[in-house]
Amino acid sequence: GIELGKLLASTGYITYDPGFVNTGAASSAITYIDGDEGILRYRGYPIEQLAEHSNFLEVSYLLIYGELPSATQLDDFTQKINRHTLLHEDLKRFFDGFPRDAHPMPVLSSAVSALSTFYQDSLNPFDEPNVELSTVRLLAKVPTLAAYAYKKSIGQPFLYPDNSLGLVENFLRMTFGLPAEPYQVDPDVAKALDLLFILHADHEQNCSTSTVRLVGSSEANLFASISAGIMALFGPLHGGANSAVLEMLDGIQAEGGDVARFVERVKNKEKGVRLMGFGHRVYKNYDPRAKIIKRTADQILGKIGVQDHLLDIAKELEETALSDDYFIERKLYPNVDFYTGLIYRALGFPTKFFTVLFALGRLPGWIAHWREMIQDPATKIGRPRQIYTGEKERDYVSLSER
Ligand code: ACO
Repeated sequence: GIELGKLLASTGYITYDPGFVNTGAASSAITYIDGDEGILRYRGYPIEQLAEHSNFLEVSYLLIYGELPSATQLDDFTQKINRHTLLHEDLKRFFDGFPRDAHPMPVLSSAVSALSTFYQDSLNPFDEPNVELSTVRLLAKVPTLAAYAYKKSIGQPFLYPDNSLGLVENFLRMTFGLPAEPYQVDPDVAKALDLLFILHADHEQNCSTSTVRLVGSSEANLFASISAGIMALFGPLHGGANSAVLEMLDGIQAEGGDVARFVERVKNKEKGVRLMGFGHRVYKNYDPRAKIIKRTADQILGKIGVQDHLLDIAKELEETALSDDYFIERKLYPNVDFYTGLIYRALGFPTKFFTVLFALGRLPGWIAHWREMIQDPATKIGRPRQIYTGEKERDYVSLSER
């Protein structure tokens, strides 16, 4: 495939492939997907096994370094991350500049971009010890930045990280805790969020990961590349779908809960009406992550004592869609984000914040891909071609004659 691609390029022919539906832009050893069979593996390990037995930090290590860590390696990795969770005090002031009702995704992206101005010692993409340092800084500081973005939006004071806690517990405390009150992390909530982070941790060449690789291919540093990836994730057809699903379910409920009517509107292709959380570029079968989440949604909501009528609407929607020819013919199944919003909501997060949680989960995947890309001798600056459809050559007409 690689040789054929090179040969085609040398002939001057251009492959016209909008959305890169059939273009392999990289070779990668990180994540394997079989969209027809509904298979997802990180570094060869089935997602179902990682979801059951592993945890987010271990999965992050696996994605970035290629192997599951030994106990010593995991301990060392955890300690390194714990040492870097604090933000520079000046960085906190960035949050003052944003309007209080700002969406947290651009706030997070801007803050990650700003990290590159604070850590100018680690910007050379080919300096491996510094790439290592940037990796640790990102994994440690992005949860702190995300929690600050949340605190800013509700007008509460920021909490410093407590490094006696694990990464997810620390994030929950910084998000929901208050300075004057002790905050007890609910282990069921932490476990649920950890699981969701594992399920989001990588998904090969999706829109945001491809963005990270494309920006990085110009030898832009890791912070800059990840900041761009966060913005690619923002869109409702990608990470923003998790918020959009909740808005859709809320809308159906507000209009009386008529699921069949909503499905008809989707099938009639009413402008702006899609069944959010359904369909995927690669999966033409049930998304294996959605399978795990659906199984655990009831369990998690039950454990933390939340009853949500929207879950019933979601299940009815799924059932209706899966037995409808429109969805069957197009092989549209629930994707990872069909049920996640309901869990995030039950854990206490506002809808606007859901995509930030996706970004926290996807961070190790982005880092792993950037590092693989920068070390790959086959990497070239990303520079697609085009089919020009504009005017042929014409002569300039002076302003007075136009
Ligand atoms: N609801 C209704 N119809 C849909 C949906 C949907 N969710 N998804 C695809 N279709 C239809 C399209 O209208 C099209 O129909 P047509 O052949 O009659 O024109 C056909 O299915 C193929 O769809 P495309 O848009 O060509 O598929 P593509 O691979 O480009 O899009 C995408 C994939 C963006 C995920 C799409 O399915 C979608 O918009 N889904 C809803 C948003 C969503 O949930 N995004 C999250 C994806 S997973 C993630 O990023 C975490």
